[in-house]
Amino acid sequence: MYILGIETSCDETAVSIIEAISKKKRIKILSNVVSSSLPLHSKTGGIIPEVAARQQIKYIIPVLKKALKEAKIKTSGIDALSITVGPGLIGSLLVGTETAKTLSFIQKIPIVSVNHLVGHIYANFLEEKKPPFPAIVLIISGGHTDLLLMKNHGKLTFLGGTRDDAAGEAFDKIGRLLGLSYPAGPVIEEKAKNGNSKAFNFPRPMIDSRDFDFSFSGLKTAVLREIERGVTRAAGPRTNDVCASVQQAIVDVLISKTLRAAKKYKVKSILLCGGVSANQTIREEFKLKAKQFLPNTKIFAPEKFLCTDNAVMIAACAFYNYNPVPWQEINANPDLYFK
Ligand code: KG4
Ligand code: ZN
Repeated sequence: MYILGIETSCDETAVSIIEAISKKKRIKILSNVVSSSLPLHSKTGGIIPEVAARQQIKYIIPVLKKALKEAKIKTSGIDALSITVGPGLIGSLLVGTETAKTLSFIQKIPIVSVNHLVGHIYANFLEEKKPPFPAIVLIISGGHTDLLLMKNHGKLTFLGGTRDDAAGEAFDKIGRLLGLSYPAGPVIEEKAKNGNSKAFNFPRPMIDSRDFDFSFSGLKTAVLREIERGVTRAAGPRTNDVCASVQQAIVDVLISKTLRAAKKYKVKSILLCGGVSANQTIREEFKLKAKQFLPNTKIFAPEKFLCTDNAVMIAACAFYNYNPVPWQEINANPDLYFK
């Protein structure tokens, strides 16, 4: 079946069309159009919701048209629509949900509502080789750091999440302290390549706590203290060392908690997803540590272009959790969550 996915929860306006035959087969991406208002937000060092929503309005129709054109398909050929209903910024979400509802109403296409965070997980289900269940899922994005147990499609149990800053948020806020451009995750990854990860012994918040919660705001404060002591500045000589040490602190906490959850629930796979999972060091260290401590558990991570927000994952999520509802029941919910 042909599924058209729409994703507008934050600063990306994304539309994708996928062709899905069976849950066991590879999912074909016919188009994957992502337009980002990120350059505007780089100037302000973060996303201003009002600005993001206005950009969504500007981009949604051109992006939709482009996705249909690239997939060489008309709306009449689409079997189902899938739309992100939350969590996210209300203004941005509304642009997507109203567009999807209008399409569903006019063309009489079934519509499936998707939780953005669950959508991220499905970037791992596109290839021929599907992750075996049970699985531990680690969602590491700009707004969330969540650990979940996934027993099957639609069977998700929340194990823990961040108590303050998310992993991506920590990268972005620390980047801001260092004078790096937004979003800072990829910039810190680049700088870390030329730095010493042992140069600073930054805290590994909550690494030994028995729960599956995270906290990254203390790490940010520790970096601020070093900056105040004059150790580094924007282009200072030790910035690379700070970046490598910060990245290592984040990786250590993420790996320790995730492997502990994997061991406790005796899972067959660990699924990484969300923007931060594009980080090569994080991917490699997860593979290395899993091989060492849990040799029977396989690590899955989406292709890098599918780690950050896109509509392919939203369409794939709808395929695996196919539950169409009347368009009148589609409602944007900025606070949608697992708990
Ligand atoms: O999943 P995503 O695109 O959006 C949300 O749903 O939040 O994640 C964006 C986040 C940003 O905080 C960004 O800094 C981070 O992902 N990020 C990275 C990398 N690429 C993106 N963090 C670390 N290393 C990267 N390579
Ligand atoms: Zn996201």
